[in-house]
Amino acid sequence: MNWDDTAPSTAEDAAGAPADRLVAADADGEDTAVEAALRPKDLEEFVGQERVREQLDLVLKAARARGATADHVLLSGAPGLGKTTLSMIIAAEMGAPIRITSGPAIQHAGDLAAILSSLQEGEVLFLDEIHRMSRPAEEMLYMAMEDFRVDVIVGKGPGATAIPLELPPFTLVGATTRAGLLPPPLRDRFGFTGHMEFYAPAELRRVIHRSAGLLDVAIETEGAAEIAGRSRGTPRIANRLLRRVRDYAQVKADGVITREVASQALGVYEVDARGLDRLDRAVLTALLKLFGGGPVGLSTLAVAVGEERETVEEVAEPFLVREGLLARTPRGRIATPAAWTHMGLVPPQQQAGGSVQQGLFGA
Ligand SMILES: Nc1ncnc2c1ncn2[C@@H]1O[C@H](COP(=O)(O)OP(=O)(O)OP(=O)(O)O)[C@@H](O)[C@H]1O
Ligand SMILES: [Mg+2]
Repeated sequence: MNWDDTAPSTAEDAAGAPADRLVAADADGEDTAVEAALRPKDLEEFVGQERVREQLDLVLKAARARGATADHVLLSGAPGLGKTTLSMIIAAEMGAPIRITSGPAIQHAGDLAAILSSLQEGEVLFLDEIHRMSRPAEEMLYMAMEDFRVDVIVGKGPGATAIPLELPPFTLVGATTRAGLLPPPLRDRFGFTGHMEFYAPAELRRVIHRSAGLLDVAIETEGAAEIAGRSRGTPRIANRLLRRVRDYAQVKADGVITREVASQALGVYEVDARGLDRLDRAVLTALLKLFGGGPVGLSTLAVAVGEERETVEEVAEPFLVREGLLARTPRGRIATPAAWTHMGLVPPQQQAGGSVQQGLFGA
């Protein structure tokens, strides 16, 4: 099996996510530029993820106390939750340099051998999208992680020889949005696995206040709460919405982000109170109004909103499912009662004259 082909790793691979999707969790060009400035620099500054932070703190402190290189760390979780940030913090906390690469960049075992053989002792090797590495590179990584050694194969066929190469001890930090795609032998070689959760609104408020401070933007507590509630549990989205609200506050208000300013600004950008954007709402509206709440097949639903099937499935649905607004069933997509309420419509079982949906939710 070729792990590269299993699935697209991001929504934009799958669907060419519209550039105006403010609530997309994947980084766009502007994010990349700003993110470096907003990244917390140590564990202390890193908001939320209490469990991962506490565990990682122990792993790193213990390694430091032993004067050893830290164990390999795997970070898994949805886009924009802080995996890259945490990998940099690991290097900073260990006082070690960091080398950054990614699965798709390592297609040949030789590429990996070149990187590994140039590492310094104690260096952190950050391997982003580790689930997208090629199989031969992955197999080389097994031995490198376990024995700090690689076999470089010279020549081809029966005459090929393996030249062993000793590596200095290093810490591999792997990041993946799809832990389920990692082959178990690779997963098992990490000494510590941290799973990143979506952030609670209170944590996002802290992220927003912190970023506002760094960006020199005046924001009221209520304004931060308003943005936090629409950020889909994701710091990257919170930071992006903050920047758009700041623009609005500068142009249309006196520069201060109050609850009202935040709410008006996000209304302009069509991000609703729960963080749904235009596409999400179009999907729900079609499902509710055209198909009575479903069940309806994905392809039909996609045609109804004028989007590709993949866009609906990969871009809109994951959040709608997570929010409990839409369910995927063997018979097709259905809207939950919460979807009707959120869109300001009356569920069929409450409408006069019976219902399409009765029985589906035990009603
Ligand atoms: N715990 C946190 N506290 C404060 N800011 C955070 C936190 N986590 C993430 N951020 C901010 O969110 C942005 C995105 O984080 P990061 O790039 O680390 O996400 P990621 O998990 O690597 O995403 P991807 O899967 O797309 O690579 C960064 O600008 C960072 O400053
Ligand atoms: Mg990242």
